[in-house]
Amino acid sequence: MDQKDVKNKDPLVLFMPSGRRGRFKKGTHLLEAARQLGVYVESVCGGRGICGRCQIEIQEGNFAKHGIVSANSHISEFGAKEIRYAEKRDLKAGRRLSCSAMIEGDLVVDVPQDVQVNAQIVRKAADTRLIARNPAIQMCYVEVEEPDMHKPLGDLDRLKQALEHDWGFTDIIVDQHILPRVQKILRAGNWTVTAAIHRDMVTARPSLIALYPGLKNEAYGIACDIGSTTIALHLSSLLSGLTIASAGTSNPQIRFGEDLMSRVSYVMMNPDGCEAMTKAVRNALNDLISEVCTESGVDPLDILDTVFVGNPIMHHLFLGIDPTELGGAPFALAVSGAVHSWASDLHLALNPGTRVYMLPCIAGHVGADAAAATLSEGPHRQDEMMLLVDIGTNAEIVLGNQQRVVAASSPTGPAFEGAEISCGQRAAPGAIERVRIDPLTLEPRFRIIGTEPWSDEAGFADLSAATGVTGVCGSGIIEVIAEMYLAGIITEDGVIDGAMAARTNRIVRQGRTYSYVLREGENPLTITQTDVRAIQLAKAALYAGIKLLMDKLQIDHVDRIGLAGAFGSFIDPKYAMVLGLVPDCELEKVKAVGNAAGTGARMALLNRDYRREIEQTVTAIEKIETALEPKFQEHFVYAMALPNKVDQFPNLNKVVTLPARSAPTDSSGGAGPVRRRREGRRPRG
Ligand code: FES
Repeated sequence: MDQKDVKNKDPLVLFMPSGRRGRFKKGTHLLEAARQLGVYVESVCGGRGICGRCQIEIQEGNFAKHGIVSANSHISEFGAKEIRYAEKRDLKAGRRLSCSAMIEGDLVVDVPQDVQVNAQIVRKAADTRLIARNPAIQMCYVEVEEPDMHKPLGDLDRLKQALEHDWGFTDIIVDQHILPRVQKILRAGNWTVTAAIHRDMVTARPSLIALYPGLKNEAYGIACDIGSTTIALHLSSLLSGLTIASAGTSNPQIRFGEDLMSRVSYVMMNPDGCEAMTKAVRNALNDLISEVCTESGVDPLDILDTVFVGNPIMHHLFLGIDPTELGGAPFALAVSGAVHSWASDLHLALNPGTRVYMLPCIAGHVGADAAAATLSEGPHRQDEMMLLVDIGTNAEIVLGNQQRVVAASSPTGPAFEGAEISCGQRAAPGAIERVRIDPLTLEPRFRIIGTEPWSDEAGFADLSAATGVTGVCGSGIIEVIAEMYLAGIITEDGVIDGAMAARTNRIVRQGRTYSYVLREGENPLTITQTDVRAIQLAKAALYAGIKLLMDKLQIDHVDRIGLAGAFGSFIDPKYAMVLGLVPDCELEKVKAVGNAAGTGARMALLNRDYRREIEQTVTAIEKIETALEPKFQEHFVYAMALPNKVDQFPNLNKVVTLPARSAPTDSSGGAGPVRRRREGRRPRG
């Protein structure tokens, strides 16, 4: 028998979910097989059978597609290490320790992504997506030789030797803060320690960033999205990948300026402005860290890695960089690539060795948050043409598929967040979030945040008494204007039709224009012509930006739309399309993708491969500067109409009967004078 035949008789092992496979000699430990195939299986104790992190499960059955018949009989019996571990700790039925179990025949091996060895309460985060792990931090347990007068090698040097011998780490850089403590820690652990090794890029030198006596079988990380309005922070176990706690707060920089523009202005006008805002956001982050640690019982010193994302202005202010250059063309970023830093340098109250990674920014006004959302939703990984939109005071737009991805931002302004709207407010209990208007009677009904029944249903008055009906939030504004259009109260050009006053006393004259009374009574809520215009301007800016990207890719439709961010999570895709915020698309393919930026940050925290993926993707993304594109104005004017003066919405028409549209006359769209938002130094982060 030749060598090849012998090799082919070796058992075939397939690891899931990675799909990596290979042939191994009988008697090979599964942990070793995983290592050889580059399958990530956690191991803190280095195969001593004490950490329990290396658990796997055997899938039984005939996997014809892979040519494998897998059975538990194809793996060795429980070994001494497993018996000892199972006696002391809980080893779930069906789970095996891969450092102990040996290959005896063909196998399909499942590597669970949520191995938990500590009885930690896991709070469900908004997004519970399981993320394949390959973190930048590795916890490495070693037994270090005791000092010997005849071998004058230092304690730290023998520790390094052990790390090289057991874990293969050579040329380790040791963080200075460890040096004064290394002897005490080694002795406290009776010459056993767990070293936290940071290595983001596999080609980089490993760094010893924290050291614990004995076996330290847990390490944590933080993923955080610094939004201009809110900050959301998640605490995850780096060893199980599970989210342990989440917390959020409003961005305290709001006191320096509601939107990005005013915050940059504040920096320009006040010599200490940048410092004050940097301090404010870092203080808020420290408060959130302390909140998640208190809730979960995690010691902040055990948080060893952090990932932050944010729009370019939030990104710069967090890093202590003056964002003035982002206030006007050419919107120069101080740094666009990924940032590697130390939490201590950013005054975060964590372990002195804790590292910081910030995703790259796509452009001067399309930030690391858009990069994170891209990583999360993956337009660059799919065949379908995907549009990803994060609507805030500035919309960040990414469009593409695995062939090509383009990105831009559009200055939508704060109208979608309820600002600039006479009865607008932020989403909070008491705010109207859903609206329906009867097309015959023109009578509205609505629902408010925090109260289940609609305004015309039993119990509404009692249940809403606590909050009252205080205003209309972003999703409510989209719905009321879309419903006004569908009911014929406003024309396709966005004019509230005064002739309708003959049909209802809810249409009232206000000078030369008309308004619609959404709520009568003591605290009336009215949609004015100016409100409709503000929404038209915002949605036209967004749509024009999207159209420019579609032009760039020479496409006339998109296959899939992801609406990211808080606003995107609450708007009804149907109404977004009726208003013409987004292009036509099959409605079931328009999805709210939640806090996609936060999910992308978690992915980058738990798996350094995702860091490389987004770094490469961002380099390849083509950035479009909407202000410089001559067609922006034309798209903008057409998009002032509802839903659009020229574009068709065939998919929307299948579910909604849109009012008949008039033929386009000229590029003014008949929408009256439009105000462009682009003039001057306007930050669009
Ligand atoms: Fe620690 Fe298997 S590697 S128990």
